[in-house]
Amino acid sequence: MQRYFFFVTLHTERLTSPLPIMKREIVCSGIRPTGNLHLGNYFGALRNFVKMQDEHECFFFVADYHSLTTHPTPDNLYNNARQILVQYLAAGLDPEKSTIYLQSDLPETVELYLFLNMNAYLGELERVTSFKDKVRQQPGNVNAGLLTYPTLMAADILIHKATRVPVGKDQEQHLEMTRTFAQRFNSMYHTELFPLPQAYNYGHDLVKIPGLNGSGKMGKSEGEGNAIFLNDDPSVIRKKIMKAKTDSGPVEPGQAKPVEIENLFALMRAVSSADAVRYFEEQYDSCQIRYGDMKKQLAEDMIRFTEPFRARIAELGADEVSLRRIMDHGKERAHESARHTLDEVRHVIGYRQ
Ligand code: TRP
Repeated sequence: MQRYFFFVTLHTERLTSPLPIMKREIVCSGIRPTGNLHLGNYFGALRNFVKMQDEHECFFFVADYHSLTTHPTPDNLYNNARQILVQYLAAGLDPEKSTIYLQSDLPETVELYLFLNMNAYLGELERVTSFKDKVRQQPGNVNAGLLTYPTLMAADILIHKATRVPVGKDQEQHLEMTRTFAQRFNSMYHTELFPLPQAYNYGHDLVKIPGLNGSGKMGKSEGEGNAIFLNDDPSVIRKKIMKAKTDSGPVEPGQAKPVEIENLFALMRAVSSADAVRYFEEQYDSCQIRYGDMKKQLAEDMIRFTEPFRARIAELGADEVSLRRIMDHGKERAHESARHTLDEVRHVIGYRQ
């Protein structure tokens, strides 16, 4: 069915199909295979991907070519990609609704990357913020792949002619370059082949999840214990939450909450019942709150909330046969989409058909 919609967007003659023609955008996003998913990733991004699957034609892939730009000889390349795939599937990405694949299973991307590189200039690539950061971080390995990270990312997106790219703020410059490359290609070859993709998020329900150490965002680089991972064991979750930073408690009724306490309430609002939140709000306002009790409640609610993820991660992670099948299915679908774009690209450039 999915495939059908796809052709509808590419071949106008299929517009006569009996299927309802809906305006489905093509969505594409890449996920770097860096460690485990935490609650911040879930509420900040993943939950939106899951929703987008029902409304759009989605392509989600694990960016395992891009990993070589920073880790040229990675340990366990496949296992890292596999692990991230398992977690995304466990969180609700559906291989029937979306095309879910490993970037390295779609070498067509590399051919498009080559074409885009022919019209990508040293000056503009050197000015990219992420490149400058990496030059500072790894001065001994400023490789051409790192410099052309944005052209590979553009190829990832343009190979499916995606128009919507759900990414965070830190990727906006890359997306702008994608538009530049797309537009440049279109005007060089007098074509309208590539649409210009835009960043895309369901802004209103992006929930910011704070960390446990009293700092801002939940993140893995903020130190052990700051983040709750979707596959953390219940005992680990209890330990992390019981250790979360608090203060000595309110002294005046209705007193404003310090950041670390507000953070605990924000976590509670994400995973606990409205009643539980209200109860502790009242306890706080009347200066009777016992943080130990609140943390116990939060820990149990967090364990309950993450339980289905944990179970599915364990189940899928142990099922290599199903995983391989999902990867093959995604590869096939991605290939079909990519092949079509690449045939058009080769045609407008002037290669033999
Ligand atoms: N650069 C993105 C990141 O660091 C990952 C990525 C690679 C990506 N290719 C992409 C994101 C294509 C969106 C579309 O998170």
